[in-house]
Amino acid sequence: MSKTVLLLAGDGIGPEVVAEAQRVAELVAPELVFEDALVGGAAFDAEGDAISDETLARAKQAGAVLLGAVGGPQWAENPRDKRPEMGLLRLRKELDVFANLRPAYCFGPLVDASSLKPELIEGLDLMFVRELTSGVYFGEPRGIETGADGERCGYEMSRYTASEVERVARVAFEIARGRSGRVVSAEKSNVMESGLLWRQEVTALHEAEGEGVELSHILADACAMELVRAPKQFDVILCGNLFGDILSDAAAMLTGSIGMLPSASLGAPGVPGLYEPVHGSAPDIAGQGIANPCATILSMSMALRWSLGMEAAADRLKQAVSTALERGARTRDLGGDLTTRQMGEAIISAL
Ligand code: IPM
Ligand code: MG
Repeated sequence: MSKTVLLLAGDGIGPEVVAEAQRVAELVAPELVFEDALVGGAAFDAEGDAISDETLARAKQAGAVLLGAVGGPQWAENPRDKRPEMGLLRLRKELDVFANLRPAYCFGPLVDASSLKPELIEGLDLMFVRELTSGVYFGEPRGIETGADGERCGYEMSRYTASEVERVARVAFEIARGRSGRVVSAEKSNVMESGLLWRQEVTALHEAEGEGVELSHILADACAMELVRAPKQFDVILCGNLFGDILSDAAAMLTGSIGMLPSASLGAPGVPGLYEPVHGSAPDIAGQGIANPCATILSMSMALRWSLGMEAAADRLKQAVSTALERGARTRDLGGDLTTRQMGEAIISAL
């Protein structure tokens, strides 16, 4: 098993949070080998593309890939295929990491940092399984065109195949078996054909191999409402690419701050996993050294667990984040005043 971690720090606060994750990881897993490469706007500026073929090839060879964030206002006008986000989407697609695990876990000391009542979120621990390499993010045709009448029109295709739904649903079932066994699948089968197919395929898979899993279905809009009304009713939420993007951001705020949410994107066995914080590049605070590194550090913990075969080190990292928070360590998004580096130090001293 490769112990190489490819660091793709990217743009905005990406390099700041990835640097802390590396420092902490070097202490809990000294056998890891770190390499780095460019992605996003940084790669576009230096290499002319949001990710180069060489970087993609290196990612495929790594044991795991840790990505910071991509994007920023300076690249907003780039043509679509040169946008920073395309580097990330290409990486996800080429690694074929179709199952994006996004745990929304509320650390006890952060109960007061959430905008929801403490009793609603105390002990919250849910897991999104978001399909990551298909759906409306990748569906063709797409484009912006001017019609014969001179009116401009933008469009893309929302498309799922049965096997794409099946493989990600299978991951959700497996994850659920290691937790409470409950899966809620969210789509818009009432208005979308791809949503109807989604519901049918998830149901069929459940009938065929869903032993030990209790499956229910919900419309994605109702899911959004229920997430803020009574989030603890959920355990595993399975959804497509776009709804997973939106619902997981909403869930992030249940846990206190989007600065706390890690993610793991997994493909077939043997494919390196891609690990990234759920938050973006936060251009408004980039370069100030005040971003919360917890989501990236927790993503590193997920990499140790899911790709690098180092479960004990993964537990140690997660526990250190928890202990640091218990001791009152907080960055600005959590209502404190620690810098990124100081938060990293607090976590290191809690190891
Ligand atoms: C995420 C992000 C990305 C997405 C962007 C940066 C392309 O919002 O990972 O949630 O939409 O998937
Ligand atoms: Mg998002």
